[in-house]
Amino acid sequence: MDGAAILEQLMTVAGREDPYPLYEQARALGAVTPAGEALLMTVGYREVNEVLRDGTFRVPDAELRGRWEEGFADHSSKVMFSRSILERNEPDHSRMRSLIASVFTARRIAALEPAVVEAVHRLLDDMADQGADGTPVDFMDAFAYRLPVGVICELLGVPAADRHLFRALASDLTVSLEMIAEDSELAAADEAAEELAGYFTALAARRRADPRDDLVSALVQVADADHGRLSGSELLANLVLLLVAGFETTTNLLGNGLTLLLDHPEAAAGLRDGTVTPAGLNDEVLRFDSPVQLTSRISLANGQRVGETEAPYGSMAVLLIGAANRDPLRYEHPERFDPTRRDSRPLSFGGGSHYCLGAQLARLEGAVALPALLTRFPELAPAGPPVRRDRLVLRGYQSLPITIR
Ligand code: HEM
Repeated sequence: MDGAAILEQLMTVAGREDPYPLYEQARALGAVTPAGEALLMTVGYREVNEVLRDGTFRVPDAELRGRWEEGFADHSSKVMFSRSILERNEPDHSRMRSLIASVFTARRIAALEPAVVEAVHRLLDDMADQGADGTPVDFMDAFAYRLPVGVICELLGVPAADRHLFRALASDLTVSLEMIAEDSELAAADEAAEELAGYFTALAARRRADPRDDLVSALVQVADADHGRLSGSELLANLVLLLVAGFETTTNLLGNGLTLLLDHPEAAAGLRDGTVTPAGLNDEVLRFDSPVQLTSRISLANGQRVGETEAPYGSMAVLLIGAANRDPLRYEHPERFDPTRRDSRPLSFGGGSHYCLGAQLARLEGAVALPALLTRFPELAPAGPPVRRDRLVLRGYQSLPITIR
């Protein structure tokens, strides 16, 4: 298969289910391989890392998508992401990043730890009730979704009574981040975008009138204080992004992590006896089965290269993070799940100026949740095959049945 055929295969149901053999076929062709018109499929750790850190490559923003992506402007889901920090280039990106970072601070995240610990134990209590008589429990539904959605909603100031609304909406919305999607899926994504925008318009209005100690209030205040720094539609887009990015990915860190622990009892034993640290486990789960498998950048300067390969004006580097994380030039025995690795630094949170704003929060949730789960349920076992979500970009499980005794 040539590069284009491999990329095409990656977008099939089978490719989405297990992209790793295809990544290795791509690697056999080189760290960077042309994959059709103006596409460079990039699987090398060094090459992906370099492009992420090279500010002269652009994220595909509204202007670029409008030029190259047919029907882009007709999809409110795509337009919404393009107004958020994720899909902005300079100078807009720095303007938004400094504003959001000023309220989404390391101190605020660190201060959340007791609330995360409490939420974990509350959810484990609920799972204990559900599964006490040996009834299978779906870990994705009972825990992996609920923890991150609870934490990000707490941080944003979304009332507890509304949190059940978001699982289906976020799942519908994030289809628009995939490289390809059916028209019906995009229609559902657009509806979800509009519903979420409506929700946050109302919440922002309530917090404007009656501010609290939460992120929505803080962002409304910075937006209002200087209108030029964050417009109303940008405020909304970023609130929706924070909500969705805050749990879709972390849910998958927890689900992918538990599956790997079930498949590797030695890693679970290591976590129990302290030879595996929670941080080491996080890093290895992120490396081995990254919740975000790919992102992309566009070359708009003459003479640019991705690794050794020329990247002509307008070409897109498809950065396969999940493949880079298994590059044998960077990792010894990359196919082994080994949470005792040192200096792992997977690229799962990206790199450079768009490096994930929520990395600290996601790591905190993973480091508290997975060890607490194993300690609480020493008999935890699979109760049937886990079912993957049919996605390439955001990789995780739809359901993961377990018994806890
Ligand atoms: C395991 C969990 C997570 C993973 C694997 C992950 C992954 C990523 C990646 C790969 C990017 C960069 C995309 C690119 O450069 O194109 C990113 C950006 C971002 N993430 Fe995360 N993320 C996670 C959790 C979170 C959480 C919990 C939040 C928020 C509460 C969050 C908020 C964001 C935001 C706002 C950006 C955009 C930053 C920018 O463009 O400057 N993420 N994330």
